[in-house]
Amino acid sequence: MDEGVMKTYARADEVFVDGHGALLRDSQGREFLDFLAGIAVSALGHGHQGLAEALRDQVGKVVHLSNLFRHPYTEQVATRLCQLTGMAAAFFTNSGTEAIECALKLARKAMHVRGTPQRTRFAAVEGGFHGRTLGALSLTWSEKYRKPFQPLQPCTWVPPDDVDALARVLRSEAPCAFVVEPIQGEGGIRELSPRFLLAARELCTETGTLLVHDEIQAGCGRTGTFLAGQQHGLVPDVVALAKPIAAGLPMGACLAAAPFADTFQKGEHGSTFAGGPLVCRAALVFLDAVDQGLCQDVTARGNRLRSGLETLARKLPIVREVRGRGLMLGLRLHHSAEAVQKELYRQGLIVNCTAGDVLRIVPPYVITDAQIDRGLAIFERVLAATPAPKPSEVHK
Ligand SMILES: Cc1ncc(COP(=O)(O)O)c(C=O)c1O
Repeated sequence: MDEGVMKTYARADEVFVDGHGALLRDSQGREFLDFLAGIAVSALGHGHQGLAEALRDQVGKVVHLSNLFRHPYTEQVATRLCQLTGMAAAFFTNSGTEAIECALKLARKAMHVRGTPQRTRFAAVEGGFHGRTLGALSLTWSEKYRKPFQPLQPCTWVPPDDVDALARVLRSEAPCAFVVEPIQGEGGIRELSPRFLLAARELCTETGTLLVHDEIQAGCGRTGTFLAGQQHGLVPDVVALAKPIAAGLPMGACLAAAPFADTFQKGEHGSTFAGGPLVCRAALVFLDAVDQGLCQDVTARGNRLRSGLETLARKLPIVREVRGRGLMLGLRLHHSAEAVQKELYRQGLIVNCTAGDVLRIVPPYVITDAQIDRGLAIFERVLAATPAPKPSEVHK
């Protein structure tokens, strides 16, 4: 297995061949409930007919042009993303880490434009994850990911929700950008407090630091509003999106607010593939679904799922906490979640384990009530059969 493939992932053995909505089928005909959506990506689920039709149509016309030439869809997607986010201009990428990379370069360039090129540091939050390219990796908290690749770009991390520490770092170190996930994904579905996020906005304005929201996982409707930060009235200077933005095709976007929309000059950033006609057609299918009320569906389905998980948390001593909002939820256990994740998978429920003790639950937005209830029943069966935590493992 994995012959000829670099060993960067511990992959499950099953070979998936087919899917419909929140269901996946493997080559043996076994059905799985997908509560992970390819790590918070497949918002419209698997086997989506509208997506298939749009892609078939586009494949028969033109698949690739490069950014040297125009097609009808780049501006359409950019304009709609700007309307949904309050930003003024988009740079398209092929992934989340590239959207962050674009944000970091934009922040550096903005400092050159302003006449303060010495402001080269970045600031980020402990527990944050921003991607694997050298720039994005420089801001990613986990030392396990960073250490083998040092030296990286200079970055200072502040503890989550520590407004004083953030004020100290922004005022004394004058970084070019502060990059923050309003809800940390890899960090264990951890919501940062509105107080911290609002203070970050004020402190960035005061110190001339670019506020970059990494909404790659929490954005595009996953928490019930197009951006998670919109629930607190937050407007960053730059926002990075990816994952569900093109309904499963590789696309990301770095969106900049009006004062930063013209920071890059021609040739200062680019991508051969990004924003091509095929991914843009997919993005339009996703954005049409958003216009038709997908975010409201996320809120309703998220409430049902969350209240079911909270019932389990009250009944089962192994559960420490339910985290997150919308369809970005986490079940934090009193000990490592790895064995539980494996057993859930064996019983046909796909989730993953993040931050060691958290089961990450990020299903397709189109999951049905019946599938939510089926998933909850599998959670209950597996968690009830998991030995109760030892007194030394119980955290208050
Ligand atoms: C918050 C956040 N930022 C950045 C990334 C990197 O995105 P990608 O894997 O598409 O490069 C991820 C991926 O999980 C993420 O969750």
